[in-house]
Amino acid sequence: MRPDYLVLRSLVKVFGTGENTFTAVDNVNVEVQEGELVTLLGPSGCGKTTTLRMISGFEIPTSGEIFIDGEDVSTTPPNQRPTTMVFQNYALFPHLTVFENIAYGLKIRRDSKENIRKTAEKIMLLVGLEGLAERSPAQLSGGQQQRVSLARSLVMEPKVLLLDEPLSNLDAKLRVSTRLEIRKLQQRVGITSVYVTHDQEEAMTLSDRVVIMHQGKIMQIGTPQAIYAKPANRFVADFIGKANFLEGRIGSLASRNEIVLDIMGQKFQVLVQPDSFSEGARVLLVVRPESVNLEPKKPDTLTGTVQEAVYLGSQMVYEVDVAKNIITVEVANPQEHLVFKAGEEVTISFQGKSLHILPYEEAH
Ligand SMILES: Nc1ncnc2c1ncn2[C@@H]1O[C@H](COP(=O)(O)OP(=O)(O)OP(=O)(O)O)[C@@H](O)[C@H]1O
Ligand SMILES: [Mg+2]
Repeated sequence: MRPDYLVLRSLVKVFGTGENTFTAVDNVNVEVQEGELVTLLGPSGCGKTTTLRMISGFEIPTSGEIFIDGEDVSTTPPNQRPTTMVFQNYALFPHLTVFENIAYGLKIRRDSKENIRKTAEKIMLLVGLEGLAERSPAQLSGGQQQRVSLARSLVMEPKVLLLDEPLSNLDAKLRVSTRLEIRKLQQRVGITSVYVTHDQEEAMTLSDRVVIMHQGKIMQIGTPQAIYAKPANRFVADFIGKANFLEGRIGSLASRNEIVLDIMGQKFQVLVQPDSFSEGARVLLVVRPESVNLEPKKPDTLTGTVQEAVYLGSQMVYEVDVAKNIITVEVANPQEHLVFKAGEEVTISFQGKSLHILPYEEAH
């Protein structure tokens, strides 16, 4: 397995000229391993599609390089790159059948009739389109159309498969089942893939690794678990999952990898990377809602007042006012005797191991 199968090196894309320039992609560096599925995730306008279009060759980088399987493809025209792209709107030919749509690229490539038939049939079976070969796209559901689109890309056996929000035209339920299908298919075929989405749940469930982008820049690259547990900055912590931010200061260095935080006048022991913060440093404590414990109020503890209590079946969601900080708390499988009501005073504590500390940063 090549660790550097797809390499984006110092990629920059500036649109416009003169005073009206806009940097859509700002020094992006990514290495994708062979067979890996990497997602570009970030809010609208952060440069995901532009990055993908540079990989496919539809957009020429202002500067930087792109390598695929060791070859510099930075200036290779799109039709000569070993990539294919799956789009959000499928872009199927309406007057061609499913089979003809899938076979189209092979036909252009002048494969033999026999080879085209065999390859297309194999792919149709793979993506679950058997029996639909003679239908026209208009006679298919949205999910089936997206499968044709995927099949049409896979049939070309690209080195890198590019997918730009391929599920956003499907309804919520179909989106969830189709993303699982895509993931299974991608693993079965073992194809190196770059997947663009602004849906964090989609990215988390699909990806080997996620690239978080913001304003053209990479904020963090990592596995979904690493990004959730150890967000690199406030933007990532806020964008991935829900997070409470508490300001604090590092107290004394209690032991090699433990520090004492002084938050809202209360001292907390927290596990962190050794040496990553100096004594007295101003920091943000990232607390996930499921890492907060609530109990009936006890003396000499950190206490707060429940502002809102919402029962969602599998969990209770609370908003707790702790010295004017509103903290969101999620309790899984709530026990009836431990459900708190609005107005109740509670003792609040944090599960030390799941806390994460960042250098202090203002809210956006
Ligand atoms: N051809 C262009 N000319 C000028 N600006 C452009 C051009 N293409 C994209 N941009 C700008 O570059 C920025 C990044 O666009 P891009 O399409 O890459 O965003 P995105 O992350 O894919 O967003 P979305 O989630 O909305 O699809 C945006 O501000 C966009 O307006
Ligand atoms: Mg886009």
